[in-house]
This record gives sequence, structure tokens and C-alpha cells, in this order.
Amino acid sequence: MKSYSIGVIPGDGIGPEVAREGLRVLEAVAELEGFQYQLVEYPYSGEYYLKTKELVPDSVIDEWRTLDAVLLGAIGHPDVEPGLVERSVILGLRFGLDLYINLRPIKLYAEHLCPLKGKGPADIEFVVVRENTEGLYSQIGGHLKKGTPDEVAILNGVYTWKGCERATRYAFELARKRAAERANGRRPCVTLVDKANAMRPHDIWTRAHAAVARDFPDVTTDHAYVDACCMWMIKNPEWFDVIVTTNMFGDIITDLGAMLQGGMGIAASGNIHPGQTSMFEPIHGSAPKHAGKNVACPLGAIGAVSMMLDFLGESAAATRIEEAVAELLRSGAIPSADARSGIGTSQMGDMVLRRVREGC
Ligand code: IPM
Ligand code: MG
Repeated sequence: MKSYSIGVIPGDGIGPEVAREGLRVLEAVAELEGFQYQLVEYPYSGEYYLKTKELVPDSVIDEWRTLDAVLLGAIGHPDVEPGLVERSVILGLRFGLDLYINLRPIKLYAEHLCPLKGKGPADIEFVVVRENTEGLYSQIGGHLKKGTPDEVAILNGVYTWKGCERATRYAFELARKRAAERANGRRPCVTLVDKANAMRPHDIWTRAHAAVARDFPDVTTDHAYVDACCMWMIKNPEWFDVIVTTNMFGDIITDLGAMLQGGMGIAASGNIHPGQTSMFEPIHGSAPKHAGKNVACPLGAIGAVSMMLDFLGESAAATRIEEAVAELLRSGAIPSADARSGIGTSQMGDMVLRRVREGC
């Protein structure tokens, strides 16, 4: 029987509550689909930092490399300097483990969850491939004369050929795979989203796109500047198949994408280095105001477990979870995928679990 070692970082705010539901679903599918796993829990969070002043040490990053995958709840505490723990844990994982792909599916399961008029599940079914280790997240920069009227703040956007090429190649391969799996014969398409008109160095992405496209004659290529992309995502979301984009733009457009699929509570993501330890998380934050009230939507965390299992090669288990969530949403039993749904975190977990066991 296959066995996996999985790190768990429940984190802050609603993180532990949603991660708990994800782990209950993991336990159920492991039994149903016949695989084993060991969990290794890590305390890193804003709360832990306030108690111990400890961030993630390098030795723990090395330990993470020996796991099969890591599941993260959410990080962020209102009493800690903004971004300090997020940079240590989330970016520590992304940069430390070279998780160069941030895979963010945008898929609407039930029309009533979509805020767009006249759009349904057939219209909202695309994937964002966000470059995850460079761009404006490079951490290269700083301040000069801080706190004075002459202050200068500099932040460098870093785009390497290797970084652009490997993210682009992943996107093209994914587009080909998605087209092979869908029944409707639609041609695969990869849309590059950048801002190469105002930010000329972004043309490295344009050239990487053209270079990779030569190896994929079956895949259509497209392009949108990021501002226009936001407009098209609302006006004609059905045009998108696979989007590949920079770290910063991917961050921004996937919050918009989350709303198209039903809300921040439902969107899941994978931080991936193919063939190596990768990390899976809901895309939402720690939402401190909802913490401990059993109101947070756990579907993003449950979706992250499904993505993790797909990555580990447990595709039957991954599909079982995805179908259970899809059936639950289509049933209309969940009015909204957010803290105002009126359904408790653990109740929603129960609803998914029932469907996972029934094999919907
Ligand atoms: C995300 C988050 C993170 C990001 C934050 C918490 C650093 O917004 O995963 O989308 O900016 O990437
Ligand atoms: Mg974000």
C-alpha cells in the first residue's frame, strides 16, 4: 500500500478550522481508496511567533524537502507586523522549495454561486498558472532615508528566462492535458497575461511564450494585458482555458477568479515543483474576524486536499473529493461559499464527507 508523509501547517485564524475539515476528508478517502499517510504537524504561525518569536528555521525547510507534500491552512495575525510570518512560512515554502508553479483552478460548479449575470458552469472553467518564485515577490529592494521626506523605496521585479520558460512550458503541457481530457473537442489555448506595454522588460514573457509555443503546434496562443484580462474575466470568462502570468498579476487575478467561482472560501491552490515536495493551500487568508466561530467555509481547504492527492498520483481519491464537492454545490444546499452561508465549518465538512463516502 502506498504511504505518504504529509506536513500540516494549520496556521492562524480560520486556518486550523478549515485544515481540520480537509484532514477529515483526507482520512476518509485514504480508507476508501486504500493508501496510507503520516501527518507531521508544524506550529509556525503568527500566534506561535507572538509566543516564541520563532519564524521558520532553515533546518525545518530542509525537513520539509523530505516530505511528500505540505498542507497549509492560512497564515496572518493582526498583532504581528504585516507579512512577516507570511514571508517566512508561505514564501519560505515557495522560495525555499522552489515551488515555481502556483496552480489556481477557477471552476464554477453551480450557477447560484456566480456573481455574474447570465454565466454558468459552462462559462467559468479555466486555470491560472502563476509564476511563484520571482517577479515583484523577489524581496530584492529596500528603503533609503526611511521615515524622512527624502525617502526612497525600491522593489525589483525579477524575471529570469528559466523562470518564465518553465512556467510557460508547464502551462502549455497543462493546456494539452486538459484538452485531451475534455469531451467537447475544444482546442487548447494558453493566454499570456502581462503588462509588456507599460513594463517593457515583461517582453521576456512574450519571447518565452513564442519560444515554448513552437513545441506545441496543437495549442493556440493568446495574450492579454493584465488590466484587459480583468475586464475579459468578467465579460467573457468562457474565452479562457489556461492563463500563464507573473507572480503579482497571478495573485491579483486569482482573487477575482475566486469570486467568479463562488467566493474566497472555495478557491484552492497548489504550489508545485513537479516531482518534488509541493505545498497545497486554500487561496484565502486567515480571516481573523471569523476565527473560532465555526463559520469559515472549508471548501477551499478541502479542494487543496484534492489537488494534493492529484499531485501525489492518487487521482481516484482526488476525483472522489472533487465530485463530492461539486455534487454538494449543485444540490443547492450551500447558499454561498463564505462565512455568511449559515452552515458551520464542521457541518459543511460533514456534508462533503457524506458525499465522499457515498461516492457521488
Ligand atoms: C496568496 C496570498 C499570498 C500572496 C500572501 C499571503 C503572501 O495572497 O497566496 O495569494 O501574495 O501570494
Ligand atoms: Mg493572494
